[in-house]
Amino acid sequence: LLNSPRSSSADTYVLSDDGGLGRDFDGIGGLSGGGATSRLLVNYPEPHRSQILDYLFKPNFGASLHILKVEIGGDGQTTDGTEPSHMHYEDDENYFRGYEWWLMKEAKKRNPDIVLTALPWSFPGWLGRGKDWPYDFPDVTADYVVKWILGAKKYHDLHIQYVGIWNERDFDVKYIKLLRYTLDKSGLEEVRIIASDNLWEPIAQSLLLDPELSGAVDVIGAHYPGTKTVPQALKTLKKLWASEDYSTYNDAMGAGCWARILNQNYVNGQMTSTISWNLVASYYEELPFGRCGLMTAQEPWSGNYVVSPPIWITAHTTQFTQPGWTYLRTVGHLANGGSYVALTDGKGNLTVVIETMTHDHSACIRPPLPAFNLTSQTATFNLRGSFASVKELQVWRSQFNFKTQKPSFFEKLTALVNGSFTLDLAEDEVYTLTTVTTGRKGSYADPPPPARFPKAYKDNFDVQDPPFSEAPNFADQTGVFEYFVNTTDPGPHVFTMRQVVTQRPVTWTADADQTISVIGDYKWQNLSVTCDVFMENLKNGGIFVAARVSKGGQDVRRAKGVFFWVFVNGTYKVTSDIAGQAVLAEGKSGTEAFTWYTLSLTVEGQKATGMLNGKVLWAKSVQLQPPNGWAAIGTASFELAQFDNFSVVAE
Ligand code: GAL
Repeated sequence: LLNSPRSSSADTYVLSDDGGLGRDFDGIGGLSGGGATSRLLVNYPEPHRSQILDYLFKPNFGASLHILKVEIGGDGQTTDGTEPSHMHYEDDENYFRGYEWWLMKEAKKRNPDIVLTALPWSFPGWLGRGKDWPYDFPDVTADYVVKWILGAKKYHDLHIQYVGIWNERDFDVKYIKLLRYTLDKSGLEEVRIIASDNLWEPIAQSLLLDPELSGAVDVIGAHYPGTKTVPQALKTLKKLWASEDYSTYNDAMGAGCWARILNQNYVNGQMTSTISWNLVASYYEELPFGRCGLMTAQEPWSGNYVVSPPIWITAHTTQFTQPGWTYLRTVGHLANGGSYVALTDGKGNLTVVIETMTHDHSACIRPPLPAFNLTSQTATFNLRGSFASVKELQVWRSQFNFKTQKPSFFEKLTALVNGSFTLDLAEDEVYTLTTVTTGRKGSYADPPPPARFPKAYKDNFDVQDPPFSEAPNFADQTGVFEYFVNTTDPGPHVFTMRQVVTQRPVTWTADADQTISVIGDYKWQNLSVTCDVFMENLKNGGIFVAARVSKGGQDVRRAKGVFFWVFVNGTYKVTSDIAGQAVLAEGKSGTEAFTWYTLSLTVEGQKATGMLNGKVLWAKSVQLQPPNGWAAIGTASFELAQFDNFSVVAE
């Protein structure tokens, strides 16, 4: 297989630093957020949670990522949920919400050199001063973002190295300059700005036309570039990154996509970093883009997780390079399809990554992949320049084996002793040949088997000093639900969960007009949901429990199910939609603000029953459409409200 007698049909390639090197390599990364993609990870039991983190971040073990990119939570829906802002209100500052701080610290514990980068998707509503737009008061927005970076440093000793503008939305030249100015003025001169986390244009052209803007921006970050860049972007002489890419179901085909773009983003597009959306699929699978992470960890209740193929494809590059290495100029396409890249640390080390992913086994979610041919081939690589004297290379191989469905990923082969090497490359393979000897295919004992969400589940939110601001397994889809302490409550409701977003955020995607947090098993059909509820909005407050909730994420506005509402005006309502438009029943409840009530909703086939404080308030037949979905709680608008003693019993 290796060093096979050189057949006459072997194509030859040169790997050399003669005549200089290519671009500096900035690393391979994963993205937590955009949004709530790590939501379920935080509640994994040990040792499984640490194992998952090891597979992602531990050097010489698994994906061994160089970069962690996180969302700067903005209280709005950002694909698979909301992430909390550090400033829900203008006079509010709290750097202990959500899980991104924790995740960054866990990453840094494992790899102190990990590069941290951050980007907002949504912003809290106050910052728009009544408009769904973050740039009318650019100084306010810059101050808000810089506070987050300063908070990272002050409260968590996390040094954020790159910050972006507004994910896949417009940038504003004035804002970017002001952000640069505010960073510098705050002692954050070393924090670099990425723009604009969207397409190559119009940012590239703007940089070319405006030297001051160009001085403010260090990296052009493009999303899903299809391995290509544009001439204007090259002309800026800026670093080019695929600052978000992948987003593909994490089976072998997803790994094929990842293998192809990790190499070809540089070969075709001169991109020196590629960041995967997302890092780890830790959200309910039925939310948008289920399992589009480098691995899957979506069952904290069972402890089950899956070390998916993209982890090992990542390892092919990450375990044998570091940010600060340099690409050789001798990179390119193979004669019969596929590509090779080579990198060096400038101190004699050499890493070569070769991929032969076929078209049909390497499509990513976007953009469409133009047709290309790839056949098996023999390739000889001649080591020249300072690599001529290399005597030994470690070899790591992945064979996808789509025909037999028996892939082998990241397998270590015997070291090669030669100054040139020849490979028989089949279709759908990845090879790393490297002088780096520290590579390792890390492993732990198999995690527990998968299991459905428990059929009987309770949470009374009675936690002193919770490690996270959010209760386990609740996945906020509009609004933010946090642990709360009622210091003055004389009764049983000292520790509760509270919805805290009181104003529509500057949205990234379509938040609902109601707030909602979903939980449980999407397959649930027949169940009872019970929760103590407390409305705090005197004027027109409303609160609900729900079952069979059909949609979340960016589709949350269209969620259907059975929703049981009570309002501060003394009425109740039953609807089959979150919008509260499709009314099945309504009437008097006698409910008011600042009083605790127990709401209970039971759905059984086409029968639904609602109870208030243990007494039946209504019973109704409901359509079996949708037949199944999550349990949920929420409010009628962006308003304060509390929840306690949540329980669900499913059949
Ligand atoms: C991106 C977006 C991510 C996520 C992803 C899903 O465009 O930035 O937040 O929505 O698409 O493919």
